[in-house]
Amino acid sequence: MDFGHYDDERREYVITRPDTPLPWINYLGSEAYFGIISNTAGGYSFYQDARLRRLTRYRYNGVPSDAGGRYLYLRDDADGTFWSPTWQPTKTDLDAYECRHGLGYTTISSSFAGIEASTRYFVPVGENLEVWDLTVTNTREDAAELSLFSALEFALWDANDDATNFQRNFNIGEVEVVDGVIYHKTEYRERRDHFAYFACSEEVTGFDTQRRFFLGPYRGWDAPAVVEEGEATNSIAHGWAPFGSHHLRLVLEPGERKRVLFVLGYYENPRDRKFDPPGSEVINKEGVLPIIARQLDPAHVDRQFAELGAYWDRILGTLQVDTPDVHTNRMVGTWNAYQNIVTFNLSRSASLFESGVGRGIGFRDSNQDLLGFVHMVPERARQRLLDIAATQLDSGGAYHQYQPLTKRGNDAVGSGFNDDPLWLVIAVVAYLKETGDWSLLDELVPFDNQPGTEAPIEEHLRRSIGYTLANLGPHRLPLIGRADWNDCLNLNTFSEEPGEGFQTATIRDDTVAESVLIGGLFVMAAEEMAAIAQRRGHGDEVEEYRRAAHRMRAAVDEHGWDGNWFRRAYDAFGEPIGSASCAEGQIFIESQGVCGMAGIGLEDGRLARAMQAVNERLATRHGIVVHQPAFTHYDPRLGEISSYPPGYKENAGVFCHANPWIMICETMLGHGDQAHDYYLRINPSAREDISEIHRCEPYVYAQMIAGKDAATHGEAKNSWLTGTAAWSFVAVTQWILGIRPEHDGLRVHPVVPSSWDGFTVTRVFRGVTFTVTVRRTGPGGEVTLRCDGAAIEGDLVAVPTDRDQVAVEVEIG
Ligand code: BGC
Ligand code: NOJ
Repeated sequence: MDFGHYDDERREYVITRPDTPLPWINYLGSEAYFGIISNTAGGYSFYQDARLRRLTRYRYNGVPSDAGGRYLYLRDDADGTFWSPTWQPTKTDLDAYECRHGLGYTTISSSFAGIEASTRYFVPVGENLEVWDLTVTNTREDAAELSLFSALEFALWDANDDATNFQRNFNIGEVEVVDGVIYHKTEYRERRDHFAYFACSEEVTGFDTQRRFFLGPYRGWDAPAVVEEGEATNSIAHGWAPFGSHHLRLVLEPGERKRVLFVLGYYENPRDRKFDPPGSEVINKEGVLPIIARQLDPAHVDRQFAELGAYWDRILGTLQVDTPDVHTNRMVGTWNAYQNIVTFNLSRSASLFESGVGRGIGFRDSNQDLLGFVHMVPERARQRLLDIAATQLDSGGAYHQYQPLTKRGNDAVGSGFNDDPLWLVIAVVAYLKETGDWSLLDELVPFDNQPGTEAPIEEHLRRSIGYTLANLGPHRLPLIGRADWNDCLNLNTFSEEPGEGFQTATIRDDTVAESVLIGGLFVMAAEEMAAIAQRRGHGDEVEEYRRAAHRMRAAVDEHGWDGNWFRRAYDAFGEPIGSASCAEGQIFIESQGVCGMAGIGLEDGRLARAMQAVNERLATRHGIVVHQPAFTHYDPRLGEISSYPPGYKENAGVFCHANPWIMICETMLGHGDQAHDYYLRINPSAREDISEIHRCEPYVYAQMIAGKDAATHGEAKNSWLTGTAAWSFVAVTQWILGIRPEHDGLRVHPVVPSSWDGFTVTRVFRGVTFTVTVRRTGPGGEVTLRCDGAAIEGDLVAVPTDRDQVAVEVEIG
């Protein structure tokens, strides 16, 4: 079924009916102030931390769905008809509707009874606020007398408290209203120095700040009493539910158009200048008023919107492609790159599937996300690496998550996820290869944020390697700890208590269960460390790392190979998991992908066999599932993986994150057709025409697509914040298109479908623009390169120091 289409020219996804299978969302904001917005204006905003600085209220899992948002109501004052120009919340049958999700903005337009309304929502770059830019046009033959109401609900800052602690919350709500600006200042009297404000560019005839007066008793968003009556009550919230609504009256002549701006923002005062006059309880508005005045100036808003476009042009301009496949082009050039940045900003904290209260910034998550954004925002990537490394423990282990506001490790989740530290190596290496900025390795960063423990990043990486070596099991493979990349393979938890956290419950005995995945990851990381040591002139370390990698390879060869594929793990009793000898879970995707990327079995044909097994046993038309056969019963020896019904999430769902690992392995084997075929199976654009099955947004990756054992095979869940974004981007750009940063330059080695006769890529790398033009002249995989007209040896293009443009011509013969 058709819910919309791409507008590639404008880099927008256009939704043409409001009743999408799920709310299809977009993100506003780029650095500190963020919001989620659905195609019918649902969603919420926060400053930095979706839990601790939540500005507006949203009801997850509510009925009807997607309640709470940035709402507007229009009312025909002649006959009392009212509607929402964004469809929700009144769900009026609009005469026209269109939502355009763009890069950092969303525009929702509609027409009803001859009144057109179009609202563009965006967060200006560098500002802690959002603008709702509304234009109302009267296309009737007569003048229209309209009322316009804005409506949002303020959250009481801590989103968890907001949804649970009503005995307190219903007493603390406070607002001020001055010159039509609504200030939300709950808890400002005490330890908060911040407040929110909601302003309007036009003169208001009234306002409401107490929800119950706006909605009326026992009423919902669909028919607020104030809108029905056409008259605001000028309510002031004392406790209960602080609300923000302006009431404007608009008289529009035929053909007349009126622009109205609303601004919702966050502001922090210096602690000693919070009140005006000092000693009162009144907000000091000296700092915020000039901001409000500026933001309500339409010319300024236009400039800021243009700047937002330029901001994204700059970011996305680092890598553009033109291939014979439209799905590849639009994902790589726009949407996948965009999703990478959003995921970098928010890690796994706030989406329609992540409530913003539970999860901070994940250690392994962010390190992997970095692979997808480092080329676009290298300075921010550098800072992120320093922040992450500061949560590493001096044992080399790592906090599994940290909180974005405090940047401290999260004690509730703790450490002991034994793959975590190695991802730091992978991420730092990606940064070095992208930027050539080796000074990062000398940056001093503490362990566990403890002052006095500062050590260079290079030392942090050594400890990562050391941590694995200090935690080897009976087969000399790495101990798995609480879990490796697959958070749900909990081999030491043995949980029998309902509700107990599978990852956080006490570990019984952590000395036996081992992970082949971590083994493969270690080989990759140790070889990268050898390369680093070589460049840094630490000769003795080079050998050490190589030997360590070699020993791990040998352990994987001996105990990690099952005959036709890589085993997955050994359980707490030393029994293999992911082996033909198992009744269920005989083969897993992760160890094939990770061991393969480490090059294990590449030379001797085992990797090809493993890929064959993946193809035969795990691949479906909707992507590659985690394992087969699915686990049919809960098994305490396996943990959460067996808690999911077969086909969902880690229990044999298509966990998209691991699919690109297989694509990469296929390119390593020279299989361009197979790699790109797998790429398209989970590519959101390629799945657009099965939206009624896929159901999530067709412009971003989802974490999971239900596997073949599921009743809803092909249905996606957990869209937006997923490592799938970064890894898909790496697989397609670095391995299929084959444009790969290396320490010594840009490797250009395409492994593309045999039907492609060529493609071009523009890639900005260390300040130099590489224009790569690829032509197929033969069926094989032989790649020859010319650089600015001259033939070069091999496939590595050095970065010139004397010019900022390089033309690379590639022939695939
Ligand atoms: C999910 C995993 C996730 C883990 C940690 C589990 O319930 O299935 O995908 O990584 O929780 O939050
Ligand atoms: C989601 C988590 O964010 C990630 O860390 C984990 O690797 C995957 N789930 C797989 O379990």
